[in-house]
Amino acid sequence: MSDFPKSLIDIVDLSQENINELLEIADDIIANPKKYAHRCDGKKLATLFFEPSTRTRLSFEAAMYDLGGNVIGFSDAMSSSASKGESVADTSKVISCYADIIAMRHPKEGAPLVASMNASIPVINAGDGGHCHPTQTLADLCTIRREKGRLDNLTVGFCGDLKFGRTVHSLISALSEHTGIKIVLISPAELKLPSYIKNDVIKAKNIPYVQTTDLDSVLPDLDILYMTRVQKERFFNEEDYLRLKDSYILTESRLETGKDDLIVLHPLPRVNEIAVGVDKDPRACYFKQVLNGKYMRMALILKLLGLEKGE
Ligand code: NCD
Repeated sequence: MSDFPKSLIDIVDLSQENINELLEIADDIIANPKKYAHRCDGKKLATLFFEPSTRTRLSFEAAMYDLGGNVIGFSDAMSSSASKGESVADTSKVISCYADIIAMRHPKEGAPLVASMNASIPVINAGDGGHCHPTQTLADLCTIRREKGRLDNLTVGFCGDLKFGRTVHSLISALSEHTGIKIVLISPAELKLPSYIKNDVIKAKNIPYVQTTDLDSVLPDLDILYMTRVQKERFFNEEDYLRLKDSYILTESRLETGKDDLIVLHPLPRVNEIAVGVDKDPRACYFKQVLNGKYMRMALILKLLGLEKGE
């Protein structure tokens, strides 16, 4: 078996073997949930959420409970010692005395990395600013593999806020490791993918890509359409947000030109980008993605605690 990192900060920390192993564990959890129901008995997950989250935090918590473990933590920076001025480094050292593993979300890019350098227990990045969100990527990869049967030879469209959308950044990095991937970047000019990802990932790996502002013209070519919300909290002024927030709205009629086996993904929360009517289209997979996220977080917790085979 390949080495597994101590913490998960960026999706690139994981090798292809690591990711495949997590996908296999998740498949086994889905098929045999009872086998895993007590794997984390007596273990504690600390969820340190310095930024609001419903899905990701509850997904981690549900994952730990489904493994038989317990959860401690906070969901708001104001209810933590950060409000008294404590550093992330100190918080991580303190929590290492109480818990077995940390899941941290923070508005500042790099905070979970600092935590991992100071904690004596594994740290999972549950989203750091506009940087990355590796466990959402694990959910995305699990969904793509289960729905499409493969992670290669896919034309993947990313639509919406590609500048601040950290889930997009992490998924592009992960998909770029596979052969036959084509990337279609659909965004308003102001919300284009950061050039560091375009240069260091897409161009560096010679991945064919198209950049456009027009969703309709590229929709028929896509195997996967990854919609994202415009990230209001990362805007410096309200006016720009209001102007850009409804740039793309996926409606039932718009989706008519999509392939029959297209899958539509969205990390959620949805604001306006996908009309509710689309939910009943069998190609809409965003709620399956939520469930897969819990299974992949279970697999990840098991691997980081070295409990995937039991004690
Ligand atoms: C995403 C995030 O936090 O970046 N949400 C999530 O983790 N499910 C996407 C978003 O907030 O738009």
